[in-house]
Amino acid sequence: MRALLCRQFGSPDTLTLENIPLPEPGENEVLIAVRACGVNFPDTLIIRNAYQFKPPLPFSPGGEVAGMVIATGKQVTHLSPGDRVLTLCGWGGMAEELIVDAAKVFPIPPALDFITAAGSLFTYGTSFHALKNKAALQPGETLLVLGAGGGVGMAAIELGKIMGARVIAAASSEEKLLACQSKGADYLINYSQEDLKTRLQEITGGKGVDVIYDPVGGNLAETALRSIAWKGRYLVVGFASGEIPQTKWNLILLKGCSVMGVFWGSFAEKERAANEQNLLQIMQWLIAGKLTPYIPQIYPLENAADAIQDMMDRKLIGKAVVKVGNWTAETAVVKKSDDNVHKIIPAENGKKIIQGKADVKNHIGSMLGPGEWLTVTQEMIHQFAAVTGDDQWIHTDTEKASQMLPGGKTIAHGYLIMSLVSRFLYDLITIRPVNAFVNYGINKARFISPVPVGSRIRLQATLSGAEDQPDGSVKLFLNCLIEIEGAEKPAFAGELISLLR
Ligand SMILES: NC(=O)c1ccc[n+]([C@@H]2O[C@H](COP(=O)([O-])OP(=O)(O)OC[C@H]3O[C@@H](n4cnc5c(N)ncnc54)[C@H](OP(=O)(O)O)[C@@H]3O)[C@@H](O)[C@H]2O)c1
Repeated sequence: MRALLCRQFGSPDTLTLENIPLPEPGENEVLIAVRACGVNFPDTLIIRNAYQFKPPLPFSPGGEVAGMVIATGKQVTHLSPGDRVLTLCGWGGMAEELIVDAAKVFPIPPALDFITAAGSLFTYGTSFHALKNKAALQPGETLLVLGAGGGVGMAAIELGKIMGARVIAAASSEEKLLACQSKGADYLINYSQEDLKTRLQEITGGKGVDVIYDPVGGNLAETALRSIAWKGRYLVVGFASGEIPQTKWNLILLKGCSVMGVFWGSFAEKERAANEQNLLQIMQWLIAGKLTPYIPQIYPLENAADAIQDMMDRKLIGKAVVKVGNWTAETAVVKKSDDNVHKIIPAENGKKIIQGKADVKNHIGSMLGPGEWLTVTQEMIHQFAAVTGDDQWIHTDTEKASQMLPGGKTIAHGYLIMSLVSRFLYDLITIRPVNAFVNYGINKARFISPVPVGSRIRLQATLSGAEDQPDGSVKLFLNCLIEIEGAEKPAFAGELISLLR
């Protein structure tokens, strides 16, 4: 299998893509076919031996992985080959395969695609812990996010809005600030052009900011601290600037504020139950579409080192993900071949490729799909019920369903079927190059036929329209239909609205 390897500590250009063998998984381990790997700031540190964890050489960077189980060790009971899973593994993810401790591996809810799954937990997990468990952010409070166009920053904006705060996004470029605005930021400050202190005074009417979320450090920190409100909370999240601020303690006294250290990794270890509660809430928001990670940059494994370099060069906006292999969600099959080696067999890739925003209009009226069939399992239904808290018997009680329902089978929740639209769609269309492709709404949703457990469903869509927006983005309209194998009527019809930037 191929892996991006760090053989000696250094910059991303010292990483090499190599073919290496992997052993069989140990008794409590899982072998995963990596489909997507989130790019995070620790990747820039770990390859330079500047991170708190120091894996033995050689190793692959990449600590946030979504993929499919290929094989499990003898003691592993909660996972089987073919399961879609997620792991926060620390390193090893920028590779085609990965062996990891089974205790660190979790099933991915059916409504989440691999890219979203690999681009969410690290950033949302950190920012939710900071805003909820540390700052106890309250509705109506002001939240200043520094480095707001980065991974954890963008997550803090979205979560701050959900928690009812007035969010001030501060970043170094207009492009980053536009992205912050699309995530709901109420006020924007370009700190490479504007005076941070003056703008904060204007925005807060001189009162100061209630909560400051700082993943950057450096010289912004003191200016921000001087702008904090009485009883404010200053969240020390990271030092992306490479500079640890030397704070004057008298400022903390004078402001009557609290400076709080945020270390999500330790929180997850020491306060397991609280962290799991946070992650469950994040999953629910992801499934409900309340959180939609901003992932405009997707790199193939061959260019994964560029992703790390781009992060170091402050070029990334929101989150970047490395896509491993040429898969389309349900078409990449894990099989054991004749030579007894596990391989990923990609099915035919019938994707429509659109060359950028300008090309979109040439495809209006085009059919997309139909895609691959996907079987709706009871496990998917249970997982959906668990994360949404909506466990009506008609969906989950198989015994009662066998006696009470006409077909004798439980029925998938209509919202579960609807939530699969985005996942199916990424298999049918690629638009490049665009900075962002954001699915954000469904119009005229109709749940037409029930989907009994065990049914196979697939998506077909028509690109029905495209509207230029004043900010240069393009709004896309897609008429989507989810059909059920062998059924006359579809399960779902609706108009998906997406935005291309
Ligand atoms: N405490 C925790 O538990 C925890 C968890 C996750 C991450 N973190 C830390 O949070 C920080 C941000 O992580 P992230 O994933 O959001 O990274 P990111 O996506 O690269 O965002 C970092 C932002 O910092 C700003 N920045 C300023 N100077 C920079 C420099 N010299 N190099 C790179 N960026 C610079 C950039 O915004 P502008 O260009 O707009 O200034 C950039 O968008 C990192 O230090 C990371 O280690 C901490």
